[in-house]
Amino acid sequence: MPLDSTPVPQELRGLRIALLVAGGIAAYKLADLASALTQAGSEVRVAMTSSAARFVGPPTFQGVTGHPVLTSVWPGSDAPEPHVFLGDWAQLILLAPATANVIARAARGQSDDVVTATLLAARSPVVIAPAMNDAMWAKPAVQENLAVLRQRGMTVVEPESGRLASGHTGAGRLAGPAAILAAMAAAVRSRYDLAGRHVIVTAGATREPIDPVRFISNYSSGKMGFAIAAAAADRGARVTLVSAAAHEEHRGVEMHHVETAQQMLDQLRQDVRGADLLVMAAAVADFRPAKTATGKIRREENPKLNLELEPVGDLVAALAEDPVASGVFIVGFAAESSEVDAHAQEKLKRKRLQAIVANDISRKDIGFGSEYNEGVMLFADGTRQVLERTTKRVMADRILDLVLPKLR
Ligand code: CTP
Repeated sequence: MPLDSTPVPQELRGLRIALLVAGGIAAYKLADLASALTQAGSEVRVAMTSSAARFVGPPTFQGVTGHPVLTSVWPGSDAPEPHVFLGDWAQLILLAPATANVIARAARGQSDDVVTATLLAARSPVVIAPAMNDAMWAKPAVQENLAVLRQRGMTVVEPESGRLASGHTGAGRLAGPAAILAAMAAAVRSRYDLAGRHVIVTAGATREPIDPVRFISNYSSGKMGFAIAAAAADRGARVTLVSAAAHEEHRGVEMHHVETAQQMLDQLRQDVRGADLLVMAAAVADFRPAKTATGKIRREENPKLNLELEPVGDLVAALAEDPVASGVFIVGFAAESSEVDAHAQEKLKRKRLQAIVANDISRKDIGFGSEYNEGVMLFADGTRQVLERTTKRVMADRILDLVLPKLR
């Protein structure tokens, strides 16, 4: 399998790919493919049928992928629930070499080993590369089973004609690496349109401490930022979420919890270099206590309390000027209570953003704490897009749709 001359398509880099190996002589070819994908930056994990493990030892795949290989549905130390682990984890599944037997079991929906269980538990596109004897390949039973799998949305990479292990010449030889990689790329192209991208999102209301028990903050829930992070991760991006809010974490999103605006800025400076997109959905404090009391401020000692506040620098404006963020497409948010467009336009310019999403916080049915949002998106190139009222998760995808064609 001359893989050296077959470049791994861009779409597959950075993806979590499960390779399911069944018991055919071509199993050895998959070690090369697993190695090439891993070297190209995909994260590859392997599950094998017991027959496959007789053709190629699991340590070979462990060696090239750097991950333990699943060979059984019984819980071991590597995965607490091996029958669903890879189905949950993978963004793309390749079944190869797909034998007549594994194709038949998959078509019937069996889950009697870790390979078929993974197929049944799959949440991602599945590509099947069959390989078998030419007479087996020609049988209606095999073709009918494959037709069932195709009908269920799986992609089949047709085997090639050539000399087979049996000594016969005919169709049944595992497709070459270029054809398999191309089919894998095609299967994910529309679904993972942010693969290979690094997206940074901020979320939530920063907290500026007054003393060890009190802080100044605002009503932002962080839901919009979490929705954008989840949408970007589901579309294949590597996502870093710098958050002052806590919600359920999403697979594929790397979390950095922060409290204050200063911590958020420090974290962003660490993460932003080389990123493709920064979405500043966080509601960052504009003022903070000039001094933080080291001990709790006591009521009896303070019949009246004056807090002196000092301005917090503008994080996103500072980043937009910082060489560390050069080339990063920066999207800000604008929370407005009047003249939404005019204020947002002014912020877009002043903060040197590439785009800004503005919404009207005086409305109770959208925005703060709500599952819904609505607004407008203004771009530095002068374009304006209305974001219709919808859930924050759907709006997140809409924002990414609009930004994607403008990324470098
Ligand atoms: N922002 C920031 N640093 C701050 C305040 C805000 O980076 N100290 C960012 C927000 O994350 C958001 C954008 O700037 O992406 C606009 O925030 P907004 O609160 O609407 O604007 P402000 O600049 O704070 O202006 P004002 O409060 O006067 O409307």
